[in-house]
Amino acid sequence: MKKKLLTMNLGNFMASKCRDSYRAAADRWGAEYLEVTTPPATGQHHYWQKLLLHRHVPDDCQVFQIDADMLIRFDCPSPFDLVDRSKIGMVGSNPLDPDHGTSNALSCNYWSKELSLPRLDPMTQHFNSGVQIYSTPQHRKIFEEAHSYGKKIQWREKLWAEETILSLLLHRDHVPMVRLPKLFNQWYCPHKWEEMTMRHSMSQFIYHFAGPNNRKFLSQVSWRRLDHQHGRVDAILRRLPSLNPMVTEVGVWRGYLSSRLLAMRSDLRLSMLDIWETPLDGNRSGGMREQRTHQAVYWDTQEAWRGTEFAGDRRELLYFQNRKNYRRKQPMTIDRKPIERHSQDMVFLDSIHSFEHVTQEFADWWPKVKPGGYIGGHDVDSPYHFHVTQAVSEFAREHSLPVEFDRDSTWFIRKPL
Ligand SMILES: C[S@@+](CC[C@H](N)C(=O)[O-])C[C@H]1O[C@@H](n2cnc3c(N)ncnc32)[C@H](O)[C@@H]1O
Repeated sequence: MKKKLLTMNLGNFMASKCRDSYRAAADRWGAEYLEVTTPPATGQHHYWQKLLLHRHVPDDCQVFQIDADMLIRFDCPSPFDLVDRSKIGMVGSNPLDPDHGTSNALSCNYWSKELSLPRLDPMTQHFNSGVQIYSTPQHRKIFEEAHSYGKKIQWREKLWAEETILSLLLHRDHVPMVRLPKLFNQWYCPHKWEEMTMRHSMSQFIYHFAGPNNRKFLSQVSWRRLDHQHGRVDAILRRLPSLNPMVTEVGVWRGYLSSRLLAMRSDLRLSMLDIWETPLDGNRSGGMREQRTHQAVYWDTQEAWRGTEFAGDRRELLYFQNRKNYRRKQPMTIDRKPIERHSQDMVFLDSIHSFEHVTQEFADWWPKVKPGGYIGGHDVDSPYHFHVTQAVSEFAREHSLPVEFDRDSTWFIRKPL
């Protein structure tokens, strides 16, 4: 099975910077780079033509197809490692997501009625076509059928016709799918994400500069530069063993760290633990100063769940029922499986940053760390969280162990062998 990285560049639309980042990714992932410059069909909007790109690829290939207006970060992990070739991998486009507004939901309703196809849940079953990973020949049929609608429908006729119809067909035929996290197809909207534009670096693996308003910012972003938040990911990954690491993250929020860890190490097993409820003292929750509403908390769990769905067999979400129970009870887990003693290569603490809480977390989690493994955490030495520094130093002194400080305000203590 050969790997191909495929894009379509009609009328020399593509910026050379995008091409550079695609070629670099193809080299790292062991894939052949393929740029289609002649339209696969005539007289149709290029969105419909994307559905025929598979015709440029022979049988027995796994294809990573990407729009020509995207940037792939220089360390983006291989999607070929994350998607089994029996499945199609795409990134969900969520109607609640501020980047997309409600247009996906309208598009789902409209096209399901118009074509008498089973109705889609726009929240979970609508996908963006900017990034797709599929295999030949098994997935050709669905793309050909979706394309056949383009003869009758102008792309602009109703919203996202092309990708909504593809999503409807995938749903109708129960095609096995992998929902890749947003990391692999993040719309770049500088007016909403002002800080991104100012830093010129990338916090996600792949940015999508869709539309002329966003495209003009392409020149400002460097695909070779990492966002500072990556320091935390890197500090953890460098301390993990080379095979099948077991990690627990305490304080997960929307799963931003979790999805990055799971994507960058495809052999990693992760226990994700959070209270996922409005804390009694919301303004002290893990350093987030805003009081979170129930709706916002619901959104957090959805993000954490969906953003790690691609690694569903390697991660589990663990819930603390509420903070009152925290000191007395084992965490409630979906399958009630406790985390065993000496089982974790890393426990990463990123929940409440008070002295008492971190001290209690040491008592709870140090026994779970394997000899030679690490306990670590975030926000040490930050002016807002000096209690973390105090609790960490005290624990290290009691056990006569050194503290390793690393990038992005992280700390680690290694358990002796
Ligand atoms: C700073 S955020 C975590 C950020 C996340 N680690 C990341 O990098 O994206 C803190 C989280 O800790 C959670 N939390 C608060 N109290 C907790 C507790 N007792 N146990 C576990 N998690 C808790 C909050 O609900 C919140 O989602």
